[in-house]
Amino acid sequence: MQFIDLAKQQTRIRGAVDARIKTVLDHGKYIMGPEVRELEELFCSFTGAKHCITCSSGTDALLMPLMAWGIKQGDAVFVPPFTFFATAEEPALLGATPIFVDVDPVTFNMRPDLLEKAIEAVQKADPSIYPLPKAACERKLMPRAVIPVDLFGQAADYQAILAIAKAHGLKVIEDAAQSFGGSRHGKMNCALGCHAAATSFFPAKPLGCYGDGGAVFTDDDELAELLKSIRVHGKGEDKYDNVRLGLNGRIDTLQAAILLAKMEIFPQEIESRQQVAAWYAQHLAGIDGLVPPTVASGCVSAWAQYCIMLPQGKRQTVANHLKQQDIPTNIYYPKPQHCLAVFASLGYAPADMPAALHASENILALPFHPYLEESAVQQIAAALKEALA
Ligand SMILES: Cc1ncc(COP(=O)(O)O)c(C=O)c1O
Repeated sequence: MQFIDLAKQQTRIRGAVDARIKTVLDHGKYIMGPEVRELEELFCSFTGAKHCITCSSGTDALLMPLMAWGIKQGDAVFVPPFTFFATAEEPALLGATPIFVDVDPVTFNMRPDLLEKAIEAVQKADPSIYPLPKAACERKLMPRAVIPVDLFGQAADYQAILAIAKAHGLKVIEDAAQSFGGSRHGKMNCALGCHAAATSFFPAKPLGCYGDGGAVFTDDDELAELLKSIRVHGKGEDKYDNVRLGLNGRIDTLQAAILLAKMEIFPQEIESRQQVAAWYAQHLAGIDGLVPPTVASGCVSAWAQYCIMLPQGKRQTVANHLKQQDIPTNIYYPKPQHCLAVFASLGYAPADMPAALHASENILALPFHPYLEESAVQQIAAALKEALA
């Protein structure tokens, strides 16, 4: 059994992909070819966002708006501790201090009430209000931005987060690397009212290309222009008229062409993901000791991952049992961000973020992709039942 079966998808779209690649090889515009603009227009109509600026990865999609806003040393950027490294890495790369805000134990997304506490703690440099990194206890950092993550495919609570951010003058980047194609209260992810949204087209993501790729979404005309400049080495009138520091942050024309072919079936795949999740919910129901994922009311998840929670100390035994039956599993994420060696100098203790710590110790991701059949889900459920008996 495959954890994510990209080969099944490729069989379905191979003709369309081949045709799209051939067109690129024929016109030869490998950098910023016509497919890039076509894809950006398609993404705007798909999400409802005013601007889409494609780029080289989900990581650069986070970095570019932070660069546009001049995030720097002395700034505080609020991020969840239970996520992929890039969410905290990008503000840190610019010299800002990541301030971790623990997650909800059910959705694994940032808790708005704790965000509010963390902002107050930073403003007063007072870790008795909320655990802070050392740098934020020693001097008052400037709260500048918050990057909530739509973990495993479901949107964070933007209604609450945007209200808090507005009250404190913070920019909000939706880290939608895992949630492209999902929605919240009828609005597509990446167009949920944040100042910017960043997504990833890494091959294993709900919409993946055959390499690296990403995109930033925004309704802000000025930010869109800055992002286009930063994407090409801070270009001004042309690429040899550099007016600011930037990146080589473009998506390849070939990757844009592949994404255009994949977009033909993407809405159907999002539907299929709902069906697979429903089969899991049905077949996992009633298995003692296992907590299946919960999608908050009003959210449609893009189901980047299907993660269950297991009782403390059981994960390795369960994973081994599944492996014996040729059922692969993964752990997202084995270490919360505040416990990573790279962030040791921040001085957090593991127990500062209890929900993230608990999740990292007990979570297990099961095989999930739009082509998973009900019989496979039944087999996985039966193996889990045996392992937990
Ligand atoms: C939550 C999150 N943010 C950011 C990224 C970075 O995306 P990329 O791998 O395209 O740079 C990922 C990808 O793994 C992710 O899962």
